[in-house]
Amino acid sequence: MTHIMAITSEKGGVGKSTLGVHLAGAFTERGLKTLLVDEDGRIGSALRWATRGNGLPFEVLEPEEVKPKKLREYDVVVIDTEGRPKRKELRTLGERADIIVLPSGVSPLELEATQELLAFLYEDPQARRRCRVVLTRVPPVGRAAENARENLRDLGIIVCNTWVRHYASYMRAAELGTLCRDVADERAAIAWQDILDLSRELV
Ligand SMILES: Nc1ncnc2c1ncn2[C@@H]1O[C@H](COP(=O)(O)OP(=O)(O)OP(=O)(O)O)[C@@H](O)[C@H]1O
Ligand SMILES: [Mg+2]
Repeated sequence: MTHIMAITSEKGGVGKSTLGVHLAGAFTERGLKTLLVDEDGRIGSALRWATRGNGLPFEVLEPEEVKPKKLREYDVVVIDTEGRPKRKELRTLGERADIIVLPSGVSPLELEATQELLAFLYEDPQARRRCRVVLTRVPPVGRAAENARENLRDLGIIVCNTWVRHYASYMRAAELGTLCRDVADERAAIAWQDILDLSRELV
């Protein structure tokens, strides 16, 4: 069975592409045949990421290049969506993905934006159980993520146990067109472990 996973947010710059590229890398490392579909195409997008370095260890395609029949060949298809999708597009996304990953920062404003988007997605009762909040860019010290996770769960929202901490290795990986596991940085291995742990919760 192919798992279709869409990564989306209404706010830009929350870490969708970073998460998309790294999760696709983690699934691949785990032996799952993975495709990353880039619906964005701008600077910072997954497609551009893939062209900066020696290539990523999985296929990255534009939506136009994806033949629906071919999707069945993959174990996981990760869709990285554009920065500010229209609500109508979000609705369609909710219908075609099995898992909707919503990255969110832990600041009060970011959490509010995530809750607002969820309220919209939850209008489709089928979508509720598919939505997973992933806390990202989490300060490595302090309890912000723990508190955010508990508060969201109290509201009945599904939040992944693993959060992705804020490490420079992710930014370096984007610059070099690689994965954080391949960046020469003392925190790179810890950053990669966050992604591997998260990937196991999702698929
Ligand atoms: N866990 C992290 N630690 C440190 N930096 C991060 C992390 N996640 C993302 N970033 C950085 O934050 C910035 C925005 O990330 P990214 O491009 O992944 O967001 P996005 O949601 O895809 O943005 P857009 O809405 O423009 O598509 C980038 O500079 C990226 O390197
Ligand atoms: Mg992006």
